[in-house]
Amino acid sequence: MHNIIVLGAQWGDEGKGKVVDLFAERFDIVARYQGGHNAGHTVYIGEKKFVLKLIPSGILRPNVQAVIGNGVVVDLAALIEEMTMLEAHGIDVQRQLRISNRAHVIFPFHRLVEKMSEARENRIPIGTTSRGIGPCYEDKIGRRGIRVADLYDSGSFRDLYETLEEDKKALAATFNLHDTIDYTQILKQHEAYAARIQPLVCDTAALLAEAMAQGKRIMFEGAQGTMLDVDHGTYPFVTSSSAAAGGASTGTGVPPTRIHGIVGVSKAYITRVGSGPFPTENTDAAGDLLRREGNEFGAVTGRPRRCGWFDVPLLRYTAMVNGFDTLLITKLDVLDHLDEIPVCVGYRLNGKEIAGMPATYRALEAIEPVYENLPGWRTSTRGTTRYEDLPENARAYLKFLEDRTGVEVGGVSTGPERTETIIRAGSKLEKLAG
Ligand code: GDP
Ligand code: IMO
Ligand code: MG
Repeated sequence: MHNIIVLGAQWGDEGKGKVVDLFAERFDIVARYQGGHNAGHTVYIGEKKFVLKLIPSGILRPNVQAVIGNGVVVDLAALIEEMTMLEAHGIDVQRQLRISNRAHVIFPFHRLVEKMSEARENRIPIGTTSRGIGPCYEDKIGRRGIRVADLYDSGSFRDLYETLEEDKKALAATFNLHDTIDYTQILKQHEAYAARIQPLVCDTAALLAEAMAQGKRIMFEGAQGTMLDVDHGTYPFVTSSSAAAGGASTGTGVPPTRIHGIVGVSKAYITRVGSGPFPTENTDAAGDLLRREGNEFGAVTGRPRRCGWFDVPLLRYTAMVNGFDTLLITKLDVLDHLDEIPVCVGYRLNGKEIAGMPATYRALEAIEPVYENLPGWRTSTRGTTRYEDLPENARAYLKFLEDRTGVEVGGVSTGPERTETIIRAGSKLEKLAG
């Protein structure tokens, strides 16, 4: 019985939602292990479009249990809104969804703290999603956060809440911020939210352990991407959680020894939202073309995504820190109209070729990518489901990525729909997710 992680190999928005939804049919449980409603995972099912932010994409399959793990940060208003949206589509959220009692709660004042820190003088803004994600994780690591379980012990909730309130008020005063937050109203509102979700709250680590004991299969759904991981990403231009594979274990309580495969999802090119270094970014017409053809606008914030070329050194790095068994390359169809496709095959820094990924953002910003141009195919690949049916140059492009990254290309996505996917026969991907 294989438990697998499906996660982003780049800077997020690789198409994880589509891939998780596709594979979920073969799994009993889909669990999120980090992040919050900063994620936006798009799934198309026929004419219907779903954008899942906090709830695992697996919930769209009626036989799948969706688990929000302890590593996730939960905005209760956003959660309830998403539950209501899914219920309106006939999804049995009450039966399918479970929420960790150890997950931390995002409060509206976390957004205020974020606004303050992003706007501070002498600080380079990260360009966050403004969802209060970072400040909530700060409180978690600072050991003053409020967890879902605390909501059900009213004495302790009020005490913890008061301490947080004092803390945030002191911060607002320090930064001379006019504080219009009604803390009492937020407290009451959260008591009501807590009552609403109570039937779904449990010890999800125990639930997952029990499921594994019964031979059930778990898929872990990564949010964001490895280059946004707080440790391994382009720090400080990262999110505040462990998006890389290691996070799946700490963020759910499933031991690393019970995870059997890691699937990296990567676009056939690359995008990034928000600020930070991006060696292969293209700000010319070619970048505009990728944005237009790929409809590269944020699923959560609507911001235009920065676009660029496939970056082999970056992928080799994310393969190293995650241990990818296989890659699923998405959005191949977006490259259909190009005559030539540049691929970054190396990095130069101060005139010298370097191996590995620099640790500082200044060094990352100074990188000069070394490109090789591959011929395009100028034929539609949209909706192709068999590898053999891809144009020869598209296959050569994928083979090039496979050879240079050193990781099998086990699957290819050729459109946003479930059906628009190639899973290569005999691949590790087929074994892990088939
Ligand atoms: P996620 O955050 O990794 O789940 O990705 P997003 O949902 O934010 O962004 C991926 C976008 O690409 C979504 O709009 C998907 O519907 C779309 N998409 C996924 N795979 C493909 C593909 O193979 N081709 C095309 N054209 N679009 C795709
Ligand atoms: P999915 O799961 C792309 C980016 C933000 C910002 C940085 C920090 O859909 O791939 P945060 O609000 O998390 O503190 O912002 O991370 N970011 C994402 N970029 N896809 C995401 O999620 C992202 N979630 C956060 O744009 O640069
Ligand atoms: Mg997204």
